[in-house]
Amino acid sequence: MPLLVPAILCLLGSCCPRGTEARHYGSVLTVPNGGPWGSWGHEQFCPRGHAKGFALKVQPFQGFWLFGDDTALNGVRLHCTDGTVIESSVGGWGNWTEPQLCSSNKLVSFSLRVERWRYLRDNTAVNNVRFACSDGTDLEGWGLSGGHFGPWSSNCTSGAICGLQTKVEEPQGKWDDTALNDMRVFCCE
Ligand SMILES: *[C@@H]1O[C@H](CO)[C@@H](O)[C@H](O)[C@H]1NC(C)=O
Ligand SMILES: *[C@@H]1O[C@H](CO)[C@@H](O)[C@H](O)[C@H]1NC(C)=O
Repeated sequence: MPLLVPAILCLLGSCCPRGTEARHYGSVLTVPNGGPWGSWGHEQFCPRGHAKGFALKVQPFQGFWLFGDDTALNGVRLHCTDGTVIESSVGGWGNWTEPQLCSSNKLVSFSLRVERWRYLRDNTAVNNVRFACSDGTDLEGWGLSGGHFGPWSSNCTSGAICGLQTKVEEPQGKWDDTALNDMRVFCCE
């Protein structure tokens, strides 16, 4: 029974942040360098308009492994032009950064900074994200510096980014946690 309470709160519209799980979209943008762990969360869309900016949930560096297990990036939120803030799966560690906004009000592509898998070492998967705006400027998130930025996704061919889906690893108990591993975004007219 207690499990029903969050579902009922969602039906009443008091979940925060709010998004919509279905919207007609034109294309899906992906990158090739996501991490291997975790499962995909729900697709979430701005109810109207596009994403004008983003915020990241970042766990600061925990120190030498065995003293602290690093997860680096735990979540991505899109800030929509209609004022809505949306997120897909989010890990339990870290804090949200301030939003970073495009002056053109439209995000059109992204790239992930990913640490490749390291045998018997503390793995973190995605460390940072950058987005490109429709006016050609780039916004690099306030994430961590492990690994390297991979290639940019394609640009939205028309319209702009209007939704996202993130892949997050569930907590591993005493084993190594990585949290956010991959992301896809959707373009709408
Ligand atoms: C970060 O979030 C944790 C809870 O997840 C909270 O205890 C802590 O105070 C926050 N730190 C900052 C700097 O806001
Ligand atoms: C996306 O558009 C920018 C200009 O805004 C361009 O520099 C870049 O090469 C384009 N990316 C791709 C993958 O076509």
